[in-house]
Parts: sequence; structure tokens; C-alpha cells
Amino acid sequence: MSVARLTTYNFRNLSSVALDLHPNFNFFVGDNGSGKSSLLEAIFFLGHGKSFRTSKVEHLACYDTDNFVVSIKDINDLQLGLSKNLETGITLIKINGERHARLSELAKNIAVQIVTPESFKLFFGGPKERRRFVELGMFHVKHDSSKQWREFNRVLKQRNACIRQNLDKATFDYWTGIFCQLSEEVAEVRSQYVSNLIAELPFWLELLLPSIANKVTVQYLQGWPQKKSLIDALNDNHEREQAFGYSIYGAHKFDVKFLIAKQPLESQLSRGQQKLFLLALTFAQAKLIARVNRVKPILLIDDIGAELDKSSRQSLSNALSILDCQVVITAIEEGVLQPFIDDFTVVNEERSNKAKYHMFHVKHGGILPVNNSVMIE
Ligand SMILES: Nc1ncnc2c1ncn2[C@@H]1O[C@H](COP(=O)(O)OP(=O)(O)OP(=O)(O)O)[C@@H](O)[C@H]1O
Ligand SMILES: [Mg+2]
Repeated sequence: MSVARLTTYNFRNLSSVALDLHPNFNFFVGDNGSGKSSLLEAIFFLGHGKSFRTSKVEHLACYDTDNFVVSIKDINDLQLGLSKNLETGITLIKINGERHARLSELAKNIAVQIVTPESFKLFFGGPKERRRFVELGMFHVKHDSSKQWREFNRVLKQRNACIRQNLDKATFDYWTGIFCQLSEEVAEVRSQYVSNLIAELPFWLELLLPSIANKVTVQYLQGWPQKKSLIDALNDNHEREQAFGYSIYGAHKFDVKFLIAKQPLESQLSRGQQKLFLLALTFAQAKLIARVNRVKPILLIDDIGAELDKSSRQSLSNALSILDCQVVITAIEEGVLQPFIDDFTVVNEERSNKAKYHMFHVKHGGILPVNNSVMIE
């Protein structure tokens, strides 16, 4: 999937936008508050059915409106649409004009990953974001495991309800048995996926952070003490679970930790380096998704100038030109895009320049193309 056309209606301050995107690189430049992050949010919303910066869907509708729409057409004319009516609460999911009930149907067709100035703080700040990151990759790379993951979550809910309601031992043991079995199955598939991700990472670190490329070690934590069986861990912690009111161990509690010299990576690297690390990991995941050949990943990078100096942006430009993804980048100043513009402009035989990108200016929620290669009907 590569987005050819993006349309939004009443999404944040983007009241009505229709854009033709370049299959490789797209740059959006505009002042603070012009609508750049909102544009990325619209693309992200279509891929995930939620925002990356609010859990409240009503915040996404343009002020004083109660209905918003995001839709895209890909290069093969596949049409995906997602709209929300706040008054009725109805979410309309459409693929080629046909209604679908599940967001995952939409998500099967589009793999959107995002890096924002806040991403690395969230990613290194706690397991939640790291879990989300890995789950997205698994959804696209190990798609057979989606059913297993849904089943696991159903059983987790049942087991949590048993804990909260203090149900009889036979019912509790029944759900615990299924929960342990599914946890082990999920953890096994996930461990394979994480191994693939770790194997891909050094290549991208070499491009983006060569100074630490061979110093990083990765720890995959399955969600319960490594040296114990899950059932033993749960039995040993029965009272703690009762006090918490939910399953404290299991496949849902997995984590992936990154270390340098046995210390957490975030305590060793500068902010810019942490951001480059997360970009390298995101590229590694994008490559795994692309290899499956079901969807072409779309990479969103918000405010590329934040934290990154010119040489880091140059390294990023080199890595992006190898990655072969559709990339949408925002910036406050056009100047910070110079390394990308230089690298993605080719001089053809007639010695005239041809851009391998589309550039847009964003102003007060309106978006206008800058270079000649962009045509808006
Ligand atoms: N629901 C909404 N309806 C209309 N406008 C909104 C809504 N939510 C936020 N806005 C406004 O939309 C504008 C664009 O916000 P956005 O975060 O996209 O800006 P930005 O271009 O990314 O700015 P920055 O460079 O500061 O990150 C802001 O002025 C914001 O106040
Ligand atoms: Mg922004």
C-alpha cells in the first residue's frame, strides 16, 4: 500500500483537504499550529482507528462539527475510508465502498508507523509503548497470530473477571489453565518475531548510530519470571493477584529492553541518539513488514528537526533512501529538509532536476503543493 490520494473532512483544523502524495517522500512544512501533526494524525487514524496523541475521539472532529472523515486511495485504486459520527457514535469503516465491521480489516491493508518528538520518551518511559510497537509489527508480519492474540485477550478478560469476583476455585483453575497454555503459545511466536527484529536492527543502527551499533544488547521478557513456569509464578503470587485484581503475569506483560554495557540504553544515550535509535528500530520493523509483501509500510515522522542536527538528518536521509517505504515528514522550517531535498532530487539526462518527492506548505489548516510535480485536481 502506498497512498496516492488522501482526503480529510472536518479532521481537526483540516476542514477539507485533498492531496496527491508521492509514492516515496512527502514533506509538509508549516508554522506552529498550522496543521502538520493533524495531517499525520489523520493518516495514523486510518491505519489504527485511533490517534497517537489523544484517546478521546471527539477531539479529532473539527470544532463545532460532529462528523469527520479520512479516506485514502492507493496506487492500485484500493479505497479505504474511516468516518466517525460523534452524535450517533457510529464508526463507518469502508473498503472499496463496502462497509466492514472490524477496524482490523482496514488495518490489514495499511501499516502506519510514526515517530514524533515525544515517541522516544514514551518508548523508553515504560513497557506500554514498547508493547504497542511490537504488537503492530506482529500484526503485519505474523498475521496468523492475530486470531491467537484475540483469543488470548478474551481469556485474559475472563480470568481477570474471576479474580475480581473471587469466583470458585474450579472456575478459576479452568481459566488459569487455558490462560497459561495460550500465554506460552503467544510468547513463543512473539519471541520468534523479536528475534527477527533484533537480527534486522544492526544494519539500521550502522547507518544511523554507528558508534553504538555493536554495543546494544536486547532482552526479551516473556511476561513472567524466565526461570519459572507461568503456572508456578501465578500460584506463588495468588494473594498479590487478588490484591491487584488482575493477572499480574502472562503473555500480555511482555517487554523488550535495550541495554548498553548492561545498563538501560536510555541512561546511556543523549536525546538525539535515543531518537535515532528509535528510528533505527522503526526502520528494522518496517523492513520486516515490507518483506512479508502484503502491505508497503508508511512511515510518518513528525517535526524532523526536533533533536536532530544536520549530520543526523543526513544519516537519516541515507537510511530512508535505502528503506523503500512511503514516508511523510513534517518540519517547521524548510531549511531542515535540505539533506533530504538534495538526496531525493535527481538530475536527469536533459540536466534538469526531477524531484523524487512532493513538498507541501501547510497554513491555517490549508495545504498547498510547492513543487511542480504535484497535481491537485
Ligand atoms: N478539534 C479541532 N478542531 C479544530 N482545530 C483544532 C482541533 N484540535 C486542535 N486544533 C488546532 O489545530 C491546529 C493545528 O494543530 P497541529 O498540532 O496539527 O499543529 P502543527 O502544525 O503540528 O504545529 P506544531 O509545529 O506546533 O507542532 C492548532 O492550532 C490547534 O489548536
Ligand atoms: Mg505538530
